[in-house]
Amino acid sequence: MAFISRSLYSSLKKKYALIVITAIFLLIPAASAQQDVSCYHCHTPVVTEFRNNVHYKIGFTCADCHGGSIETNASVISYNVMSGNFIGRPTRLNVTMVCEKCHIEETKNYKQSIHWEQIEKGHLEAATCTDCHGIHEIRAIKDPKSPSNHQNSPATCAKCHSNTELMSAWYYGIKTDRFDTYKESFHWKALRNGYNVVATCADCHENHLTKAHTDPASSTYPANLPMTCGQTDCHPGVKFDAKIAAGLVHDKESLHSGDLLFNKTGMNPQIAAYYLGPFDLAYWIAIFFKILTTSVIGIFAGMVILDFVSRFKMQKRW
Ligand code: HEC
Ligand code: HEC
Ligand code: HEC
Ligand code: HEC
Ligand code: HEC
Ligand code: HEC
Repeated sequence: MAFISRSLYSSLKKKYALIVITAIFLLIPAASAQQDVSCYHCHTPVVTEFRNNVHYKIGFTCADCHGGSIETNASVISYNVMSGNFIGRPTRLNVTMVCEKCHIEETKNYKQSIHWEQIEKGHLEAATCTDCHGIHEIRAIKDPKSPSNHQNSPATCAKCHSNTELMSAWYYGIKTDRFDTYKESFHWKALRNGYNVVATCADCHENHLTKAHTDPASSTYPANLPMTCGQTDCHPGVKFDAKIAAGLVHDKESLHSGDLLFNKTGMNPQIAAYYLGPFDLAYWIAIFFKILTTSVIGIFAGMVILDFVSRFKMQKRW
């Protein structure tokens, strides 16, 4: 302070508080922009996606998943930040290692799933965390743009489950019409109309504890279906033949879930309002058209046969 004149110093003193406050406001954005500068300068496309990431919004950085250093001086942009505990790009086998640091429960459940079982066997195309949630654009489940949002989740499963090439691998051979058959169901029709309480794939098959329907521990194993369908807000106290229902869920006929003889008295009133059953006009219209087509085809086929027979007889007479 020696070279500052006494008068200037005292005037500065008056403005001291103001200067400090201004400095704080200028430094906050500078500090947070600088914090990520080590990765942000070079990986611009990733950063663009990352800005929509739920983890970015709560203050996490690249280094929380990839390791490496984020505390580099803004003026020194160097590859060296990708060092230390830097893990680079996790392989599909190792994605869970990144997420499980924080999502312990989800990972524990996922590791009991058929998806993980396959990945462990080296069939790396089975689903891992990033297939259902995204890589750098992981959004909150509530976010309508999240691939695992209730509205979007069936299409996310269908990316693989409707992929005949993927599913025809010799070790899989599971049905690939699951999204198509789901689309015939009451659940999808209601979901598409913005009604969110109805079941999607993940509600019946579990999002993380997904198992084969032949596995007795699976939510879709016939004996466990009354519990799966009977969840609160779905069909509590459901009474139906589990074996029949198991065959019907993905069956085209299940549009009219009335066939499952649901206990309608215990039904969520909102669902009841949405209910499509034998009392629904569409049900009878469908039956009407089925009878109409069969009989029209039958009559024409009969006429062709009669015509053929009569021509044959006429030929014989000559
Ligand atoms: C000086 C520029 C630069 C900086 C700073 C930088 N990177 Fe990289 N990074 C690269 C280049 C170049 C590659 C290799 C080319 C590629 O695969 O895109 C790469 C590759 C990667 C990969 C993929 C590796 C692979 O196997 O494909 C990851 C993950 C990564 N960087 C993360 C980070 C993180 C996290 C930070 C911050 C701690 C960071 N990078 C900082 C330039 C940089
Ligand atoms: C929530 C954890 C997470 C965060 C945060 C994250 N990444 Fe990644 N990143 C991953 C995973 C997992 C993969 C591998 C995905 C795969 O290949 O299936 C990956 C892949 C990459 C790759 C290689 C593939 C590609 O897309 O180019 C780069 C580069 C990369 N990350 C850079 C970054 C940078 C830079 C940031 C910060 C802006 C960041 N990551 C933040 C989890 C994360
Ligand atoms: C087959 C697809 C799929 C895979 C694989 C998957 N998830 Fe999920 N996850 C979902 C769906 C769907 C939801 C939303 C469920 C709902 O509607 O509540 C979800 C929900 C979540 C949530 C929100 C909280 C919760 O439990 O509902 C977190 C966190 C999460 N997943 C993390 C993970 C992690 C970590 C992994 C990997 C170990 C993973 N997920 C693997 C589909 C998946
Ligand atoms: C450093 C810790 C950390 C890591 C690593 C991490 N997450 Fe998260 N994640 C969080 C936290 C904290 C939240 C916010 C939880 C909340 O909002 O309830 C979150 C939120 C989420 C959500 C939204 C949950 C919801 O309820 O909407 C999903 C999905 C998710 N993470 C998936 C992943 C996946 C997939 C990975 C691995 C690629 C991963 N996370 C890695 C800490 C982490
Ligand atoms: C209302 C509950 C329910 C919904 C919703 C549902 N499933 Fe299923 N799913 C079942 C039941 C029960 C079975 C076992 C009996 C069967 O095959 O019909 C099954 C069987 C399967 C199978 C095994 C097929 C095989 O090879 O026999 C796959 C794969 C499958 N579902 C995927 C899906 C996908 C993907 C979706 C969403 C597009 C979906 N499911 C929606 C209940 C459901
Ligand atoms: C990245 C691809 C991928 C995604 C995304 C995916 N799956 Fe799968 N899933 C597979 C593969 C591969 C198998 C084959 C495992 C087997 O049958 O051995 C499988 C198996 C299954 C099975 C067991 C079928 C049976 O009965 O044998 C069910 C149920 C299932 N997935 C449900 C789901 C649901 C629900 C979703 C969405 C929430 C989903 N999957 C998302 C790849 C995927």
